[in-house]
Amino acid sequence: MDWGMKNRLSRIIRPETGRTVMLAVDHGYFLGPTTGLQEPGKTIEPLIPYADTLMLTRGVLRSCVSPKTDIPIVLRVSGGTSILGNLADEGLTVSMKDALKLNVSGVALSIFVGSELEKQTLLSLANVINEAEEYGVPVLAVTAVGKDMVRDARYLGLACRIAAELGSHYVKTYYCDDFEKVVKNCPVPVVIAGGKKIPEKEALELSCNAVQRGAVGVDMGRNIFQSEHPVAMIRTVREIVHNNLKLRDAYDMYETLSREKEVVFA
Ligand code: 5RP
Repeated sequence: MDWGMKNRLSRIIRPETGRTVMLAVDHGYFLGPTTGLQEPGKTIEPLIPYADTLMLTRGVLRSCVSPKTDIPIVLRVSGGTSILGNLADEGLTVSMKDALKLNVSGVALSIFVGSELEKQTLLSLANVINEAEEYGVPVLAVTAVGKDMVRDARYLGLACRIAAELGSHYVKTYYCDDFEKVVKNCPVPVVIAGGKKIPEKEALELSCNAVQRGAVGVDMGRNIFQSEHPVAMIRTVREIVHNNLKLRDAYDMYETLSREKEVVFA
């Protein structure tokens, strides 16, 4: 791995702990103005101090994030579909040249293993990796799960392993039973998505379980920005990821921070 690749990767996965809190706010690329991201700039701003990276699209980066902001960017470079169509039918949306002009630390794209379009998305991944290798840009493969797929260790392990075999530098997947098997069988770092909004305690438990079972962190969106207390949530997730905070302490921390906010703004 060359110096540029290693340097960019160390801006995403923090060398101090070997872990990362990625804040995912790319959902609009297929969901439109989803809850919590109607005005992305307002949502993102108070969360930035607690995130190691921002994962988002070119459009939101340009229009909603100040170029003076000091946070590594992981740019989503796939899309072209919407919640109304066939989500697996994604293509590449951003050239490597434009990604580099935006000074990104990494790029991300989805693969749809098991869908009728798996070959298209896997070859897109391989093409992005080929180009990214030329410029030292780490690639995050996102293992998107189609409606017909089961989110179990067998399926997610297959998708993560294929992403790694094609050369992804790290992989994002979902937490599942026997998650440690998914991590063990994947030779590159794994981060988890949070998935649909669930109660805060459950999302904190998910984060604790994931890092205890080998994830290098989270690439979490809705369970942070759709929380009643997004700042309290990301600060607590950060403690779990970087300092191995246990669930009971994590929930206490979340509740304390939530109350603090209410006192400040009451
Ligand atoms: C969509 C994505 C999202 O960034 C990902 O799902 C993470 O967000 P969430 O925690 O809300 O699931 O890659 O394909």
